[in-house]
Amino acid sequence: MTDHHGKAASPALPFDIAGIRLDGSGSLTRQLVEQLRLRMLQGRLPAGARMPTTRELAGALGLSRNTVVRAYEHLLDEGLIKSRVGDGSYVTPPLAQMSPAGAGPAAPSAAPLPQTPRWLGLQAFTPSRTPAGPVRAFRWGSPAMDLFPAALWSRLQSQAWRRHDTRELAYGDPAGLPALREWLADYLCSARGLACHAGQILITAGAQQGITLAAMALLGPGDEAALESPGYRSAAAALALAATKVHPVPVDAEGLRPGALEALGPRCRLLYVTPSHQFPTGVAMSLQRRMDLLAWARRQQAWILEDDYDSEYRHVGLPLAPLSSLDSAGRTLYVGSLSKLMFPGLRLGYLVAPPGWLPTLARLRAVLDRHSACMDQQVMADFIAQGHFLRHVRRMRRAARERRDALLGAWARHIEPLGLPLPAPEAGLHAYLPLPEAGLERRLTEAASAAQLEVGAMRHVGGLPEVSARAGLVLGFAALPPAATRRAVQTLAQAWRPVLG
Ligand SMILES: Cc1ncc(COP(=O)(O)O)c(C=O)c1O
Repeated sequence: MTDHHGKAASPALPFDIAGIRLDGSGSLTRQLVEQLRLRMLQGRLPAGARMPTTRELAGALGLSRNTVVRAYEHLLDEGLIKSRVGDGSYVTPPLAQMSPAGAGPAAPSAAPLPQTPRWLGLQAFTPSRTPAGPVRAFRWGSPAMDLFPAALWSRLQSQAWRRHDTRELAYGDPAGLPALREWLADYLCSARGLACHAGQILITAGAQQGITLAAMALLGPGDEAALESPGYRSAAAALALAATKVHPVPVDAEGLRPGALEALGPRCRLLYVTPSHQFPTGVAMSLQRRMDLLAWARRQQAWILEDDYDSEYRHVGLPLAPLSSLDSAGRTLYVGSLSKLMFPGLRLGYLVAPPGWLPTLARLRAVLDRHSACMDQQVMADFIAQGHFLRHVRRMRRAARERRDALLGAWARHIEPLGLPLPAPEAGLHAYLPLPEAGLERRLTEAASAAQLEVGAMRHVGGLPEVSARAGLVLGFAALPPAATRRAVQTLAQAWRPVLG
């Protein structure tokens, strides 16, 4: 052990060893390598400097020569020093470019931020919301996570681990666990009326990855994409990764307006839509519009990406058939999510593609991140196979409806009298409150946030950042039990009264 703290440099050495401290915390060779490397990066051992001989350094530091020899060998392997036959070792020149002599260690913030189009584009989108702390009232996008059967899930997980073999620990199929794909195909056929088979289903890390993969696979250089406006901002961000331009297409009371699509021209190759429950306005697309969109895709040889993120939650009437189920020309891809039925942190979703596409999409998935966690997929497949999934979906749907009714009832009592009636959402997990202008949106969201409530502003939620979105608020109602929602509506009324005065 040696501690040369404060000790003067040995005159025999070409550099100052003061401050080289080796202790008993680990391998002496590793510690010496780290200290020498640091000095080189700091410029205290400048490029071109001659290193002391191993004998000199070992003597000065009180180390065995072997330790120093091993450290030098390692520095040689890293390319930090090079040796000249018969002339000792020298610090290599590239370090001079990395850190000028005497400049000291570069502070992490010193690196200039990249100015690439992608880097700048990503900054235009608000970061995905991951608010800290427990779920607060009106958080949108959150299902009733308090109802998730965690004990059952944990039992299935331990059973899966008890019977596992090395296959679950190895790399899996990039298309996803075959059993889970089979179960999802059954579910989509029977519950969603989507005629598909497991060979068309790619398991993804949520709907978000399905959107990203589809955009990357379908768009080439110069291609453009389109999405509803207002629309789902995270989808806009995913499309922008692959498209030269992303066009907003206006939405009215029947959904996306196909007339505006026609004006975009042949470069627009991909359209993202949420026909069952338009995000965020909640409109269900009319049958005529659906047919118009399919006709547009056929004419333009373009693709439609249907996001059916929360269609299980239909509060009035029967679930609507997906747009993809009307497509006889194979121009649609369908993304779904388990985030709203199970829990968002599970990160499981799926992309249903036309027959024959799966091997290529699976290759793309493998390039990006290989596949979703095998064990999570296995437990999800067991959850479905043992009948828990359908039971859970029924329970979640019932709870969402109760929670929606609690919101509407309390709203009618406490907030409607202030002049803000809330349109009743017919589907999904959030209500949409249109507002006359952006200033009011800002004042209402600020007042809500001061009262510790999470009300979504259209300027953050609704689509392409450069498009002046409609003013409005998005209010999630499913995350908390009815009583908590009723209390939160009263708090919101108090917070808003001075604004609405
Ligand atoms: C329109 C829309 N699509 C998809 C999702 C789900 O995304 P993911 O499956 O990536 O969690 C959400 C969640 O809020 C959404 O609002």
